[in-house]
Amino acid sequence: MLDLLITHATLPDGRLNMSIAVQSGRITEVTEGLQAPAHETVNAGGLLVSPPFVDAHFHMDSALSYGQPRVNESGTLLEGIALWGELKPTLTHEAIVERALRYCDVAVARGLLAIRSHVDTSHPSLLPVQALLDVKQRVAPYLDLQLVAFPQDGVLRAPGGLDNLRRALDLGVDVVGGIPHFERTMAQGAESVKILCELAAERGKRVDMHCDESDDPHSRHVETLAYETQRLGLHGRVTGSHLTSMHSMDNYYVSKLIPLMAEADLGVVANPLINITLQGRHDTYPKRRGMTRVPELMAAGLTVAFGHDCVLDPWYSGGSADMLEAAHMGLHVGQMTSQAAMRQCFDAVTVNPARLLGLEGYGIAPGCHADFVLLHARSPVDAIRLRAQRLGVWRRGRRVAGQPAPIAELCLAGRPGSVDFL
Ligand code: FE2
Repeated sequence: MLDLLITHATLPDGRLNMSIAVQSGRITEVTEGLQAPAHETVNAGGLLVSPPFVDAHFHMDSALSYGQPRVNESGTLLEGIALWGELKPTLTHEAIVERALRYCDVAVARGLLAIRSHVDTSHPSLLPVQALLDVKQRVAPYLDLQLVAFPQDGVLRAPGGLDNLRRALDLGVDVVGGIPHFERTMAQGAESVKILCELAAERGKRVDMHCDESDDPHSRHVETLAYETQRLGLHGRVTGSHLTSMHSMDNYYVSKLIPLMAEADLGVVANPLINITLQGRHDTYPKRRGMTRVPELMAAGLTVAFGHDCVLDPWYSGGSADMLEAAHMGLHVGQMTSQAAMRQCFDAVTVNPARLLGLEGYGIAPGCHADFVLLHARSPVDAIRLRAQRLGVWRRGRRVAGQPAPIAELCLAGRPGSVDFL
């Protein structure tokens, strides 16, 4: 007897009336119309069953700290960094853990089951690192938390920055981070990229760097990141996060840059909610949007994800752990309104970030982990449009959120050819 059988599911690739069979936490079969005895059977009623949402870029150590000790008046990235610097001396292990666990609870309810979080390594105490390593262990049964050693104050600019980051990796942090545009000069930024990529190569780690998070059209750290990636043979293991300067760069230069990024198989994370609010703050009108060139990067074959980045913290006063909100904003800011582009926006919060994180067993296919979310929508495009309700969330075949309600009763009959509003 199966542990779980989902029937009448629509899958993100458009397959209809699919059954998903689960045994011992893994998917054993994905077949049209399969009926078999199971301990739990869920009739999806034609609604969308997706692999879980994945957030490729988040800051869990600052999440839910909004207003402490004050709010960001200018709304700029730099005031946010200064504000985080004011908050840091008051942080405690318990407070970080409590806020992070609260966030993870909401994330799971939203079908968000894997998060890559940057964690600030600037202070020699490594307090946020210790706290999030604790959280990582505690949430492991229901959420994959991958940590990035993030030198918020600059790995070269802050005294002891590199040593602190190395010690964070020693403690078990998974990924090497960086912030080259915050180092003192463009040259020091480039040097930091070289040092950090070499460190990652030495230790067999992935890299995910805040890179060129500015409106400066002359910022060039992503070029260096692509160069170091190919020089060290780190293809497919390095991600450039934000890349907002690409929005403002000269088009001719970008026509050279994107192929270099593709050659290095660089991952890209745009953070639409944050980019649209933090960038362009020095502009009058017209105001730049600041999001990197998502459709062009996707067209060049790069793996592009949308991250949430911040929720209720010194940089962002909004957010709700809903990756469909990030996808919705990315779709609008990137003007990605064709059917194909809207579907790509769904991929940008599911399969694409899963690839960047290197998640094992991700997807709805035999052999994959039985992790999925049942959405009150009939297609990925509708899921984004509606920021669809999560009717059920399963992790390793066990329901971790949602009600065991008669799902089929929630469905409205769609007429062929009509617009299905739900
Ligand atoms: Fe970030």
